[in-house]
Amino acid sequence: MNDDAIILESVSKRFGKLEAVDGLSLTIPAGITYGLLGPNGAGKTTLIRLIAGLLRADAGAVRVLGASMPDKAILARIGYMTQAYALYTDLSVRENVAFFGAMAGQSDRARVDEVIALVDLAERASSLVSTLSGGMKQRVSLACALVHRPALLLLDEPTVGVDPQLRVQFWSYFRRLNNEGVTIVVSSHVMDEAERCDRLGFIRQGRLLAEGSSASLRQQTGMATLEEAFLAFAEGTIVTR
Ligand SMILES: Nc1ncnc2c1ncn2[C@@H]1O[C@H](COP(=O)(O)OP(=O)(O)OP(=O)(O)O)[C@@H](O)[C@H]1O
Ligand SMILES: [Mg+2]
Repeated sequence: MNDDAIILESVSKRFGKLEAVDGLSLTIPAGITYGLLGPNGAGKTTLIRLIAGLLRADAGAVRVLGASMPDKAILARIGYMTQAYALYTDLSVRENVAFFGAMAGQSDRARVDEVIALVDLAERASSLVSTLSGGMKQRVSLACALVHRPALLLLDEPTVGVDPQLRVQFWSYFRRLNNEGVTIVVSSHVMDEAERCDRLGFIRQGRLLAEGSSASLRQQTGMATLEEAFLAFAEGTIVTR
């Protein structure tokens, strides 16, 4: 039994001539929240899609929850909230959540209502998604990713457009999930969110430049804030590995 939820070994993914992920190795223990940081185009979404098994690596090994990805059997154990929302706009909130649940083998009605309440949309459960605000759509996406109680939650910039109050609620819920053993991988450009992650990885040009807690990344760069550390890595003025 391995306590690591995700093991990437020298993983590469090319799009034409572009090395979107370039020989990247990374291990994520189960039950933590791991934050992916890096500038636009760094390869965060590509990495998440490799972990989700939606892309196949050109080289290297991707192991998730003990399986070599892509592996269809593992899909039902993964919740994936995409960067651009992927909802059926002509279906209601409840119908969307029920659909994504059914796709992953979860057909419990009470669970559908539970996750809708969790993202604070109980009053809009019957509304068509097309009639929701941007932040509300984001909340429906999170409900869809959670409904089947995944062991691994992949969140690609989950709180973009979500108001501060709900963002705090999301993060306290993520912490609860960790306590239940759920592993979370989250990409973000929001530094106060990054501070909440147990471990962070700085990615640039498809490579992992540095890894560690927020405190250790600040220490590695000699910067007072995570934001300054991020800028130092993003500009390439600091390379620690
Ligand atoms: N399907 C694709 N076809 C061609 N190029 C792609 C494809 N997907 C991603 N890329 C390229 O791979 C690189 C990494 O993209 P990716 O979406 O992984 O970045 P990111 O770190 O998620 O950026 P952002 O912060 O903007 O979301 C970019 O140069 C992007 O243009
Ligand atoms: Mg992205």
